[in-house]
Amino acid sequence: MDCSHIQFCADKTKVNFVQLQRLFAKTAFWAQERNIDDLRIAIANSNPVVTVWDKQRLIGFARATSDGVYRAGIWDVIVDPDYQGAGLGRKLVQTVLSHPLVNRVERVYLTTTHQQSFYERIGFEKNETTTMVLYNNPESAEDLARRIKAIPVTIDN
Ligand SMILES: CC(C)(COP(=O)(O)OP(=O)(O)OC[C@H]1O[C@@H](n2cnc3c(N)ncnc32)[C@H](O)[C@@H]1OP(=O)(O)O)[C@@H](O)C(=O)NCCC(=O)NCCS
Repeated sequence: MDCSHIQFCADKTKVNFVQLQRLFAKTAFWAQERNIDDLRIAIANSNPVVTVWDKQRLIGFARATSDGVYRAGIWDVIVDPDYQGAGLGRKLVQTVLSHPLVNRVERVYLTTTHQQSFYERIGFEKNETTTMVLYNNPESAEDLARRIKAIPVTIDN
């Protein structure tokens, strides 16, 4: 594939949310139901956000959250299936890793269900022992708060 006309963009004001929603629906099994209002919030709170373009067509996306020093996380790495296997995914992740908010952090985390080999080629290592997750849906959060409130507090002097 000739990729000489493909452009990478780190300016998140250029994100086209309609195209991004379609790209998620086409490519990302974990992000089928994302709506545009929530995508706007996620991107406003992520840095860097990197997009990949074939002229006006959005063909790749990745974003990170970072404290700039200690920890960063990379999320939602996707390349349009029509463009996979040409090295764009690797360059996308490397572009995120080279951003000033990410390139000096102690540890960069990500979670992946099927793409361990892809990330290993970029330098990531398997880290099965340290990751935990809270599935924070509003119902269970309220339920948890209710249950915590019901725990009696005793103060021994
Ligand atoms: C994962 C994904 C981003 C990779 O993008 P891509 O543009 O196809 O990847 P590249 O062409 O840059 O591949 C880079 C290297 O990884 C290898 N690779 C890519 N996908 C791989 C896979 N699933 N398993 C093993 N190796 C893989 C390539 O062969 C290439 O190897 P090389 O070092 O020998 O050249 C893309 O397949 C995708 O969007 N998948 C669906 C969404 C997804 O699962 N994203 C990851 C979420 S955590």
